[in-house]
Amino acid sequence: METNVRKQYNQMAALYDRVWSRYVAKTLAFLKDWAQLSPTSTVLDVACGTGTFERLVLREHPTQSIVGIDLSEKMLDIAQQKCRAFPNVSFQKASVAALPFADRNFDVIVSASALHYFDDPIAALIEMKRVLKPDGELVILDWCKDDWLCRLYDFALKRFDPAYRQCYTQVEFHSFLGAAGFQIRRATRVRLTLAWELMVATAKPIALGDRSYEG
Ligand SMILES: C[S@@+](CC[C@H](N)C(=O)[O-])C[C@H]1O[C@@H](n2cnc3c(N)ncnc32)[C@H](O)[C@@H]1O
Repeated sequence: METNVRKQYNQMAALYDRVWSRYVAKTLAFLKDWAQLSPTSTVLDVACGTGTFERLVLREHPTQSIVGIDLSEKMLDIAQQKCRAFPNVSFQKASVAALPFADRNFDVIVSASALHYFDDPIAALIEMKRVLKPDGELVILDWCKDDWLCRLYDFALKRFDPAYRQCYTQVEFHSFLGAAGFQIRRATRVRLTLAWELMVATAKPIALGDRSYEG
């Protein structure tokens, strides 16, 4: 599946920002407001695409330390171009399935509009937890299958888009976070465009011996 995703995004990279400009601008502005990043935190953006989230954050905090990873080298080339003026941002080609970072490395991990591509969402969340500091925060935003229009897209995309895997209901999403060892701190569903309802959650790794988690 990752080969299909990489191929598809390499093919559409040059057009991505134009074709998806409204969706990307709205979702990532929402994500930035939701995440409330401290300017001193080290951030990993999983499936960063063309680096729009990085540029939004860096315009406000030019020295923020951010790493973006993505499967598509062509998307990453654009991200690199967009953010070349900023000193503490870097981009690497990698899969969420095997993040090329040491354990307990980042204060915050964000990921926008990508969970529906991951081959194994629970394994992806466990891998993100590995590189997140024990007191760090994970912020995931993705399509929400509780919405009938999303269900319709999901039905069609599964049949016609070889890169697409599936989107999830909020209950499924929250159960993945629990199964991966996260405790949800804040979560909501939101409609930012006519077409897609989204869900977002901020979660923290559950400390060993912490009994406060409720599945
Ligand atoms: C819809 S785009 C979202 C990009 C960006 N987060 C945004 O909001 O504009 C999905 C991105 O996920 C990336 N992606 C999908 N599966 C991935 C994986 N397993 N590991 C890393 N990146 C992945 C794709 O290459 C693509 O750039």
